[in-house]
Amino acid sequence: MIVTTKKLFEAAYGKYAIGAYNINNLEQTVGLFRGNLQSEAPFIIQISKGARAYTDKLFLEGLIRSADEVFPKAIFAVHLDHGDEETCYDCIESGSYSSVMIDASHKDFETNIAITKRVVDAAHAKGIVVEAELGQLGGVEEHVKVDEADAKLTDPKQAKEFVDRTGVDSLAVAIGTSHGAFKFSGSQSLHFDVLAEIQKVLPGFPLVMHGSSSVPQEEVKRINAAGGKLEGAKGVDAGQFKRASELGVTKINIDTDGRLVWTRVHREVFRDQPEVFDLRKPGEIFMQAYADFIAEKNGYLGSEGQLEKVREILSK
Ligand code: G3H
Ligand code: 13P
Ligand code: ZN
Repeated sequence: MIVTTKKLFEAAYGKYAIGAYNINNLEQTVGLFRGNLQSEAPFIIQISKGARAYTDKLFLEGLIRSADEVFPKAIFAVHLDHGDEETCYDCIESGSYSSVMIDASHKDFETNIAITKRVVDAAHAKGIVVEAELGQLGGVEEHVKVDEADAKLTDPKQAKEFVDRTGVDSLAVAIGTSHGAFKFSGSQSLHFDVLAEIQKVLPGFPLVMHGSSSVPQEEVKRINAAGGKLEGAKGVDAGQFKRASELGVTKINIDTDGRLVWTRVHREVFRDQPEVFDLRKPGEIFMQAYADFIAEKNGYLGSEGQLEKVREILSK
């Protein structure tokens, strides 16, 4: 069942965070649904501009509709990740998304507000909800490059003004994470002090944490042992998700970790079974490994076991 992120956030706020996982293909989609049902968790499917352009956006939309039929117990939102204004409108018009992210965080404050407000007006007119971003993460996004050193944390005062003036439904905040597999050169530093300040000025308002892959060291070790070159890869401590959710984070974005599972499975299969050329062999292993990964992640997020409670809330 496709719902808005807003509905999921109402159930989760202050208690746990919903996992927002990126998909690009069939195998990820199947693994994602299996893993969330395995762990009885509501979830968010994210589609980036890059994912839409990988083949044709219609394939992903069709995959999600099929998955909704194949896995009728699943409760999830379909969300555009890091959209620009034009892509937001395209998704709003498509009828396939329940939520869009407008990312104008690289623009100045007033321009970010103006763009976000336009998208909010268009989305709300169709019953679709909007996430926006204020502050800048380190690392690399599709259309924005920000050096870790230049990463700008979200200013709590600006956050309040931004939400009031745009009417946005959730806000991605920069509190020290970054995208990709190389998040911290030294020890990790999530700025819970900044998060607490934001929650103080925006009580009950859903916040979003991007760049939240944990980059499990065991996964990195296995990839490197099978011919990969990911020395120094490092991520966010998943043990900190709980504290983040108590401080108002209701959506936690994870993409890189799923790519690591894919890389590990394929490297090991081809290293250990050099005779294999049936694409379904690594595909089958990946789908189950990804499902297991999702189920484990939902344990850290606290969304594990929440599915029936959410269904009950939705039925009222
Ligand atoms: O934040 C970016 C997401 O990880 C999506 O990555 O733009 O390469 O699909 P992508
Ligand atoms: P990671 O690169 O940490 O998985 O972050 C993904 C993300 O923020 C997608 O929007
Ligand atoms: Zn992101």
